[in-house]
Amino acid sequence: MKGLILSGGKGTRLRPLTYTSAKQLVPVANKPVLFFGIESIVRAGIEEIGIVVGETHQEIRAAVGDGSRFGARVTYIQQDAPRGLAHAVLIARDFLGDDSFVMYLGDNLIVSGITELVEEFRRLGCNSEILLAKVANPRQFGVAELTADGKVHRLVEKPEQPKSDLALVGVYMFDHHIHESVRRIQPSARGELEITDAIQDLVDRGLDVHPHVVKGWWKDTGKLEDMLEANRIVLEKMESDWSSTALRGSSAIEGRVVLGEGAEVVDSVVRGPVIIGAGARIINAFVGPYTSIGDRCEISHCEIENSIVLADSSILDVPRRIDGSLVGRNVRIVRAIEKPKAYRFMLGDNSEVGIV
Ligand code: G1P
Repeated sequence: MKGLILSGGKGTRLRPLTYTSAKQLVPVANKPVLFFGIESIVRAGIEEIGIVVGETHQEIRAAVGDGSRFGARVTYIQQDAPRGLAHAVLIARDFLGDDSFVMYLGDNLIVSGITELVEEFRRLGCNSEILLAKVANPRQFGVAELTADGKVHRLVEKPEQPKSDLALVGVYMFDHHIHESVRRIQPSARGELEITDAIQDLVDRGLDVHPHVVKGWWKDTGKLEDMLEANRIVLEKMESDWSSTALRGSSAIEGRVVLGEGAEVVDSVVRGPVIIGAGARIINAFVGPYTSIGDRCEISHCEIENSIVLADSSILDVPRRIDGSLVGRNVRIVRAIEKPKAYRFMLGDNSEVGIV
């Protein structure tokens, strides 16, 4: 079996993080979302991985390289424009050959991995296995309608009036029959070749498409709440990893905490689940549950919880606790001491600030 990861797209959805245009490289618990996908494919025993890239190919290539550090061999497949997920399968034909494959959308995250799902697909010997998850907003996804006995009846991409709340998760398994289907379908209203339509074509041809409902799925919809939720889901599963040599003065670590290499905790309390990146310094501070602090950050004389801070940022002397926040790379939040006594902001596009 091979892996096909889709990591194209323009990443045009609004989000406060303008530091990168590749949405697949947004970090969750200090790790790019894309890496979770690569790791779970490798863990399922698949080493031959094709990555379909678009406009942001340089960033993706720089981050993933030849795949050797994941134990994978990565081939890059360039897509000239975002022409749809089925189009990605079309242009990956040479790489895929007639092998079965798992297709993984690089901005999706399945916390429990895909090993059991890949095993199930192999065991059942079906032509395709699709993953479904219950969602509150099915209009934003491909939606599956199942028959009373749990078979796939109809799949509709972003329906106005969804027939169910089961969304297509961005992980699919296929055998070679999909190649004929991606050639048979026509572009959708948004001008893309939809994988949803190609799977419907498999169903229409009487091929065996097996649905599997999963839990613990996450997808980037570009919202702050989503990022915080992904961060919480991943941190929830994390094991502790720290050494007491990182602690100075009267510091305490409570619950599950990961400290990166060279991270220091000075006169502070860190209450997990929390991850703190390499070389970060926590000084006279409280870092509360569900917080990810990036590499080389400085968190000093302040309190923060349920938040994500990307690498190289400093939060110094903030009088109130910071909660539910997403702080980009190389940001400084400091107490203004000069007169006039006023808030002072320098915020990028799409930023959002809540003050009390
Ligand atoms: C794509 C698929 C959709 C699926 C979703 C999962 O949507 O077209 O069926 O539910 O991925 O991430 P898109 O991200 O292109 O809007």
